[in-house]
Amino acid sequence: MTKYKGLAFINTIGCQMNVYDSEKLAGILNSYGFEKTQDMDEADIVVCNTCSIRHKAEEKAFSFLGRFAREKTRRPHLITVMAGCVAQQEGKKAFDRLPHLNLVLGTQAFSRFGAHIDALKSGTQRIVDIEESDMIFEALPDETCFEENKVSRFVTIMQGCDNFCTYCVVPYVRGRERSRAPEAILEEIRILARNGIKEVTLLGQNVNSYGIREQGLSFPGLLEKVSRIEGIKRIRFATSHPKDLSEELIHAVRDIDKVCRHVHLPVQSGSDKILKKMNRGYTRETYLSRIRALREACPDIGLSTDIIVGFPFETKEDFHLTLDLIQEARFDSIFAFAYSDRSSAPAAKFSSQVEETEKKDRLNQLLELQETLTEKKNRAEIGQTLGVLVEGFSAKERDGFVKPSAKTRQMTGRTESNKIVHFASDGIKIGDLVDIKIEKTYPHSLWGTSAADQCWERKIK
Ligand code: SAH
Ligand code: SF4
Ligand code: F3S
Repeated sequence: MTKYKGLAFINTIGCQMNVYDSEKLAGILNSYGFEKTQDMDEADIVVCNTCSIRHKAEEKAFSFLGRFAREKTRRPHLITVMAGCVAQQEGKKAFDRLPHLNLVLGTQAFSRFGAHIDALKSGTQRIVDIEESDMIFEALPDETCFEENKVSRFVTIMQGCDNFCTYCVVPYVRGRERSRAPEAILEEIRILARNGIKEVTLLGQNVNSYGIREQGLSFPGLLEKVSRIEGIKRIRFATSHPKDLSEELIHAVRDIDKVCRHVHLPVQSGSDKILKKMNRGYTRETYLSRIRALREACPDIGLSTDIIVGFPFETKEDFHLTLDLIQEARFDSIFAFAYSDRSSAPAAKFSSQVEETEKKDRLNQLLELQETLTEKKNRAEIGQTLGVLVEGFSAKERDGFVKPSAKTRQMTGRTESNKIVHFASDGIKIGDLVDIKIEKTYPHSLWGTSAADQCWERKIK
């Protein structure tokens, strides 16, 4: 269907779902004749796929697109697009700050992207499409998406969110929760597998509430179906909501070999008072009991979480309950954020906002504590042999800092629990699932030796 000729640059801000959506946008652009470029200065169309979860992410989008105001006076044919969550939130208001912008493409408007490109190419200057829709945009993977990561891919299985946590914009910018048809998901994963992909991460804002009622299909049922696809070695999923973490799902993680023993389970706070104000739907104790159930079923399971500090009404005592929970839960890693006021979310109207300096201070305390906990957890892996899916050559080697010898190369991959492992390899290929014996730990990764190499060494001796 190639209609035009040109180059497209896509900047993706935000969560894994945006990474997935950007691939779809790249696919549409490719079918319209726009090839991907890594150099924004030579692009004929620039897309920023945006995130509005926190103020900083939103500002990043405006400042990135703002750069093209001057460029557009120099190259009037340049098309600039704001896509995704900020686009959905701002609508035509986006033009107030970005008068040179051509297209505001909301989260539910991706199926019309091609038609909008046509209109812009025929001379239309400004388009806003933030129409809401219950439909989920379906597009099969196109070949451009296999260039960057040849091993692992994201697959969005549901859209939107119905949970309405009081701090969060997602229900407003992504709409109501809706699950994709299993046939479409499985077909997409089969194509990925045929193209050499070994690992898929199933995505949803509340992935464990996936379900197609008419077919009696729940999330664990979908995991089972995905696990039957030949060529896929590993299945991950994110993000799970603690209130929907069923026994059935815990058993699926325990029993389906391909499902990685890792759960990302955002807790947000360790204080029941704050959890209630956040509208999270669980207490500290029910959260901790879920974690205990996961560890009982799979003792070696990796756990990670998200935390917000400085939510309105959070006192020092509430914050200490969060520190205390972190110690009790022994997460492998955490993502921590200072609360950011979002005008569309109800918490923006809460009184008792916490001072910015206090939020920063709490964030630092939390991160410091987790650093020591992560270090301890990583140290416990020394001497263990872990299965690692090889993703590529390590950054150092890619950047030319280490001179690769023909025989031994430095490679990188991930354990089931999602820890990064570097290792020297002799004959191991990208996409292999290998056993690595962990020998050393770094703050954010592990170092090991291939177990096969060790057998070989023993034989020589
Ligand atoms: N759907 C997922 C995650 C959504 S966004 C869930 O429910 O857990 C990812 C993380 O961003 C959240 O877990 C939360 O920790 C953080 N977050 C969301 N809104 C925020 C806000 N207004 N300020 C600071 N952090 C926020
Ligand atoms: Fe936001 Fe809560 Fe939905 Fe997660 S579950 S996307 S935090 S509203
Ligand atoms: Fe951000 Fe939208 Fe994802 S707000 S976190 S890009 S769903």
